[in-house]
Amino acid sequence: MKLPRWLKLGLLALGLSLVGAQAQGVTVTISCGSVGKGYNFCKEGAEAWAKRTGNKVRVLASPKSTTDRLALYQQQLAAGSDEVDVYMIDVIWPGILGEFFVDLNDYVEPKVKADFFPALIKANTVDGRLVGLPWFTDAGILYYRKDLLEKYGFSAPPTTWDELKAMAEKIQAGERKTNPKFWGFVWQGAAYEGLTCDALEWIYSYGGGTIVDEAGNITINNPRAAAALKMAKSWVNTISPPGVLAYMEEEARGVWQAGNAAFMRNWPYAYALGNSPESPIRGKFDVTVLPKAATPEGRHAATLGGWQLAVNRFSKHKKEAVDLILYLTSYNEQKRRAIYGSYLPTRPALYKDPDVLSAVPFMGRLYDVFVNAVPRPSAQTKKKYNQVSAAFWTAVHSVLEGKVPAEMALRQLEMQLERIKGAGW
Ligand code: GLC
Repeated sequence: MKLPRWLKLGLLALGLSLVGAQAQGVTVTISCGSVGKGYNFCKEGAEAWAKRTGNKVRVLASPKSTTDRLALYQQQLAAGSDEVDVYMIDVIWPGILGEFFVDLNDYVEPKVKADFFPALIKANTVDGRLVGLPWFTDAGILYYRKDLLEKYGFSAPPTTWDELKAMAEKIQAGERKTNPKFWGFVWQGAAYEGLTCDALEWIYSYGGGTIVDEAGNITINNPRAAAALKMAKSWVNTISPPGVLAYMEEEARGVWQAGNAAFMRNWPYAYALGNSPESPIRGKFDVTVLPKAATPEGRHAATLGGWQLAVNRFSKHKKEAVDLILYLTSYNEQKRRAIYGSYLPTRPALYKDPDVLSAVPFMGRLYDVFVNAVPRPSAQTKKKYNQVSAAFWTAVHSVLEGKVPAEMALRQLEMQLERIKGAGW
């Protein structure tokens, strides 16, 4: 654009005075994720902000397991620590940690808020306080090897779990002849929050509900939920490695990306990594909605995940910290992360952006799956969510290990959840 000289000079002077005013810049500390390339993407974004504003950033890594990360953050925040200014928080934590974060309503204009998915703003609003700005959303999806489906005569990915099992068995038997390390299906089976996500998908896809329903009733002890768990148990050591019971996201991705699995359940971040130049499966796979049960109640399900940015109430640099999270959640920064990292944007407009749609076509194709993703029962169980989830993943893990039959595990879980609930959530 050609600007008149007087305007150019004026803008230059303004720019210089802004730089001058901020030359003393402060150091803002942000705690980033470390799954996949999460740390690098976070650091690049934060450093770009620092360069623009004349501030500095200190970028910390955090544990890979979201469960361990919650424990660490709870410890820091309960002690009133101001070491971290910006926290990256899981979509299930606003109720648990919200009291430690500033109310962003005091800083963020309503018209800025309106550019995000309303459901995500709602998920970050606790007792009227906006405790986080949605950075990227997540939903469980099925990764499948296009080349292997074709090699074994399948014209489309599975739509039911039965189909998935049959396809996995056939492909595994064939591939094992030349690759003893090959498995049909990898997923997250370790005893942590990730297993809650996977198991919720199985159970919901059988019409077995969401552990605790929206009204706060404990619904987990039902035959459909038991059927779903029996199905998952039947995978272990047949189409899934026994080691899957210790897998988190990155272990599953490791097997998958090395070319040693036909199917994987994971989050969208694994898409960009699987297509990176050094990946053995580059261009050989695609993603689709997870299968459903082959019963009348069967429905496709994806657990809702995702991460928000929140400002520590004890921070000494609240204004700068808010500025950093506004930058990181901005249209352009989310666009960069979507295109190069396949992180799902939290702004609906980006799902119509032609650059995003051509770089990561599944974002357009699976849009409905993402917006209809199934939330874990964190809103209704509030501060007790982590206890609920821990009881759930422990029960599921014991079924997968073959230690407790599904029906008995669910009966015991129901009683345990009643105790956790007590007089109310
Ligand atoms: C992903 C999701 C998060 C979930 C976690 C479980 O990071 O975004 O919501 O809790 O996986 O491992």
